[in-house]
Amino acid sequence: MPKFYISTPIYYVNAAPHIGHAYTTIVADTIKRIRRMLGDDAYLTTGSDEHGQKVERSASAAGLEPQQFTDRVSQAFRAEWDELGLECDFFRRTSDPRHALAVRKIFERCMANGAIYKGTYTGKYHLGDEAFVTDEEAASADPEMITTVTEENYFFRLSAFQDKLLELYESQPEFVQPDARRNEVMAFVRAGLNDLSISRSTLRWGIPLPNDPEHVFYVWFDALTTYMSAVGFGEHDGPGSDYERLWPIDVHLVGKEIVRFHAVYWPAFLMAAELPLPKQVWAHGWLIFQGGKMSKTKGNIVRALPIKRVVGVDGLRYYLLREIVFGQDGNFSHEALTVRYNADLANGIGNLASRTSSMLARYCDGKVPEAVGGTDSGGLPPLAEICIGEAIELYRKFAFSKALETVWSLLARTDKYIVEHKPWELARADDSDSRIQLEATLYNTAEALRIACVLLAPVIPAGAQRIWELLGQSGAVAEQRLDQLRWGGLAPGTAVGAQAAVYPRLDVAKSVESMEELEAEALAEQAQLMGGTPAPQAIAIDTPEIEIGDFAKVDMRVGVVRAAERVKKSRKLLQLSVDIGEAEPRTVLAGIAEKYGPDEMVGRRIAVVANLKPRKMMGQLSQGMLIAATLQDGEPHLADFPAEAPIGARLG
Ligand code: MSP
Repeated sequence: MPKFYISTPIYYVNAAPHIGHAYTTIVADTIKRIRRMLGDDAYLTTGSDEHGQKVERSASAAGLEPQQFTDRVSQAFRAEWDELGLECDFFRRTSDPRHALAVRKIFERCMANGAIYKGTYTGKYHLGDEAFVTDEEAASADPEMITTVTEENYFFRLSAFQDKLLELYESQPEFVQPDARRNEVMAFVRAGLNDLSISRSTLRWGIPLPNDPEHVFYVWFDALTTYMSAVGFGEHDGPGSDYERLWPIDVHLVGKEIVRFHAVYWPAFLMAAELPLPKQVWAHGWLIFQGGKMSKTKGNIVRALPIKRVVGVDGLRYYLLREIVFGQDGNFSHEALTVRYNADLANGIGNLASRTSSMLARYCDGKVPEAVGGTDSGGLPPLAEICIGEAIELYRKFAFSKALETVWSLLARTDKYIVEHKPWELARADDSDSRIQLEATLYNTAEALRIACVLLAPVIPAGAQRIWELLGQSGAVAEQRLDQLRWGGLAPGTAVGAQAAVYPRLDVAKSVESMEELEAEALAEQAQLMGGTPAPQAIAIDTPEIEIGDFAKVDMRVGVVRAAERVKKSRKLLQLSVDIGEAEPRTVLAGIAEKYGPDEMVGRRIAVVANLKPRKMMGQLSQGMLIAATLQDGEPHLADFPAEAPIGARLG
């Protein structure tokens, strides 16, 4: 039996699972199911990417050790995949000691082949976070916190692999897909490659280098190796091992933002280590929500489980594979998802399944009839054969949306066939010719449904299994072979299963509302997961002492907000009209708009520094400052007063 091995990226544990992660994993699971139904011995690997500065920081914000923190978040990913019914065969964590064996082994092989050297790395460093930052991060940070630091690092000689990589893309055009990504990757490599820093000595949370334990592996050298450590490389990789059977991998499925690491760095590491290269890197697009790629920082995130609870796993899978053209970006919307569910699953295949089974129960004693005697088969048998061929071909190319369209064309033709042949009239007619026609019509309908059901099993596994049973078929539909599917496989005389609604119709507005409510709950749960209950830590006040006279210089007053509005083009600023008992209210600009809306501010009594030199912000003059505490979540929390606090009263 040919093997097939596919991976998802391993997910960073500094964010809780969301639908973007679920998207990749669902697609990978679908591909695995397709390959299994094509006769391959198919395996899927996923995992969690746990090392590095960001995770160290997230752990400390949650008051946990990195290992405890990553145990918890990694488990949340694993539980999410289980709850979504995704069949992952391997789940590799980068903090697993078995993974370290693989990383060290590849490193040592690269080193032996002269692809590693020690050099100096210079980068922007955030003093507060004690971490290197990207140029982008540095630009948005407080400039006083950013400095340039030079440290000794181990480097991978990526520059030496330019020609070999180009040769790879030329000789194996399928290596990077789709073509647009292949072109991007080739342009990047042609422009020349810099050597890559692969270690850090400023970081503790990582895998120590075997030859220099003061250094830990940095990011990609560590992360990419999970695809091999998952199947035992470095541990059990001899004859008869999973590694020997499954490596090289057939497909790395990745989001388009990480294609470069998989299609440039990874093959170069493997070339240097003289190990077999992956066969393909396939990059998909992003799910766009509220105008952008979902991200924790933007807060435009949707979670998969609330959706599953309302439309079921199949509803989610079907939407992602049908609505989003694989390889391109696609908008996500709860409403579009529910509308799709109703149109194609509830009113489409679900309705056809219940009509078919109820007609079989009513007119044929609950048994599949025989299709003998000449009657018009409505072109269903040849259409079904064409659909089988096309769907398989499209599935092989990962053109899921088109494959599903093809199957739906068969379903639509079958619906039409029922309407044209009116089985209910044939049943009433009570003559032998009508009876023959009735039985043939129902056989053809049920057979078309069976074929659609097998073709759809990789995409909507739960519903396909229910329809399978409804048609009286035994075993698992997932055990069927797509490439052996033929018209006529339904055995006459088979007793059909009990009738049940496969996909109940949903009220769109109510479903969207339920998903949004569940979403809010999930958000709170995830905040708990990421934040935990920080261990109470005593804080140390280390600011220099001041005299009472110094303090008296600051004139703070109780004020009341009379009016508030957002400052145009600013995410953070609110413009407030603050009354501190003077003749005229003052204009104060406050950086609180991400936490407080204008409506929440009007009427609020707050503390204002009244003798601060006026300051221009976004072209407006601010005549004071509100007092707020910045807590661990990084958000401002205003100091405020009850309604009876006298306006203008001085604090001190
Ligand atoms: N840890 C790295 C990958 C290392 S692989 C050796 C990483 N992790 S990630 O958690 O940030 O993202 C992993 C994958 O999640 C992305 O490649 C992408 O497949 C998927 N997605 C995350 N957000 C997404 C969307 N909004 N839309 C679609 N997929 C998205 O990168």
